[in-house]
Amino acid sequence: MCGIIGYIGKQEAVPILLEGLRRLEYRGYDSAGLAVLGKKVKCAKAVGKVKALEDKIKRQKLSGFLGIAHTRWATHGAPGEKNAHPHSDCRGNLWLAHNGIIENYQKLKKSLQAKGHKFKSETDTEVLVHLIEEEQSKRGGLTLEEATRRALKKVIGTYGLAVISAKEPQKIVVARQSSPLLIGVGENEYLVASDACAVITRTNQVIYLDDGEIGVIEPSGVKIINLDKEPIKKSNHIIDWDLSRAQKDGFDHFTLKEIFEQPQAIANSLRGRLISEDGLAKLGGLQDVEEKLRDIERLVVVGCGTAYYSGLIGEYMLEEYAGVPTEVEYASEFRYRKPVLDKTSALLCVSQSGETADSLAALQEARRKGILTLGFVNAVGSTIARVTDAGVYNHIGPEIGVASTKAFSSQICLFALLTLFLGRQRNLSLVMGQRIARELQNMPVLVKKVLRQDKVIQKIARKYFKAKDFFFLGRKYNFPLALEGALKLKEISYIHAEGYGAGEMKHGPIAMIDKNFPTLAIAPKDSVYEKMAANIEEIKARGGPVIALTTERNNALNKLADDVIFLPKTLEMLTPILAVVPLQLLAYHCAILKNRDVDKPRNLAKSVTVE
Ligand code: M6R
Repeated sequence: MCGIIGYIGKQEAVPILLEGLRRLEYRGYDSAGLAVLGKKVKCAKAVGKVKALEDKIKRQKLSGFLGIAHTRWATHGAPGEKNAHPHSDCRGNLWLAHNGIIENYQKLKKSLQAKGHKFKSETDTEVLVHLIEEEQSKRGGLTLEEATRRALKKVIGTYGLAVISAKEPQKIVVARQSSPLLIGVGENEYLVASDACAVITRTNQVIYLDDGEIGVIEPSGVKIINLDKEPIKKSNHIIDWDLSRAQKDGFDHFTLKEIFEQPQAIANSLRGRLISEDGLAKLGGLQDVEEKLRDIERLVVVGCGTAYYSGLIGEYMLEEYAGVPTEVEYASEFRYRKPVLDKTSALLCVSQSGETADSLAALQEARRKGILTLGFVNAVGSTIARVTDAGVYNHIGPEIGVASTKAFSSQICLFALLTLFLGRQRNLSLVMGQRIARELQNMPVLVKKVLRQDKVIQKIARKYFKAKDFFFLGRKYNFPLALEGALKLKEISYIHAEGYGAGEMKHGPIAMIDKNFPTLAIAPKDSVYEKMAANIEEIKARGGPVIALTTERNNALNKLADDVIFLPKTLEMLTPILAVVPLQLLAYHCAILKNRDVDKPRNLAKSVTVE
């Protein structure tokens, strides 16, 4: 949540900062602001999206070769100019942009106010800049980095921050604690950003800051120290994707582009990882822990939102085919329980961004207990990817739309790969392994086939987009998918939707059904098809409209359901990979018809880096 970008170099900073902000906007879009150091520091802020800031800046003369900028997702203090970053000290010499939460800000604020500091915002962030000012005024002559270091020693909480000072006009100081931050190393220039997508147009070389590290960036180079002033040696990482992966490619929205990108994304997630003739999965990222994995007796999967739902599908696969007892839990709950974990357990953290605060905290809890930790992560070099003992990358390129789409189908593929990997270590037969591998290989082609029904789904969306409520029903592998379908519709169209295991309908929810309450029933021809068909009958008997997803050539639902979407035939465990596509498209088209901001739904941010 919140995106930070900074620049120091030989170019005008403002256009570079604005471009970076546009790429980081998915992280929050309540307000945006920037501070540029020319002869003195000039600042501009605007409420709403980066565009509002851009329009405002056109009317102001802002020039300089060094600056910092921020796009905000409000935590402390309502969205508004006064709470927008960067924040400044009392004299307007220091300017700071922050992503994270300062937990002890109230105590710090009180003590700073008692010393005469004047606060202008309601944010927790503002204490940071006054703390640095206080350190400098207490001990005249402290450099920006030293004052920042001393200030951070007093802080409890999370931060990715960038601070500049009018008194040291050739320097940006950055620091990180549990909120992502990287330094882009360009030609005669450096950038600072919360995410590599903000620097990729200027450089593919980055230094990832780790927790407790401070970076001092000057034209002559970068110095990294820890909070105890010890120098840290860091190496440059190369980003192996380019700008085209972070652009819309002619689609109206990133979300739509990412839905349509799924055949390619799935192919990338599977590439080089299947040995079909031996029914095996080759997962390089798990090689070092292969023997440990042979001995695990229990897998605990944690994630949030869509990542959690993919874990629920994984649970069905892992138990049915690998015989590994699996539990899936919201990371946000896991961290507050006293989970009983022993050395025969492993924890798998699923996260697209690799930065979700709750998922990271759950992971750290497992590490404290000394158990093996694994990750399914998309963002290369992200915190979760670096903190886990071993893991598998999705390799699907950046996902920009706030609603997770291609990450979900890719996560299910990774679970299928893990099922093969663990299953073949155990009792999964060669024949079944070969079957799963072959069907998986075929997924990109089958997903493409489903995408061809976009127009049919758009028509269905026109019929239902005015509905106030929606049910999504499924059983077995498609029960978690019903939850995901409801989440997608809610988050981008703001239509109220609930997902249920279809067997639960009679235990309460069916009372809601009437002619205005449509149900989307996921009913492929699988082991629970007859039960799903019976549920559809029950809903129709009560006058509820039904959209059914079923397997091609199953015409039995044509008469029963109001609308039918057909899916190609595949293995039962892989049906969610196909069935999710119509759910994503339905949510997208409903959102468009309702004139919603699909890529940036209200109140949300792409990576939730605060609790
Ligand atoms: O980056 P992560 O996968 O850890 O994110 C987890 C959730 O915040 C995310 O899936 C969220 O639920 C999406 N907006 C759903 O579309």
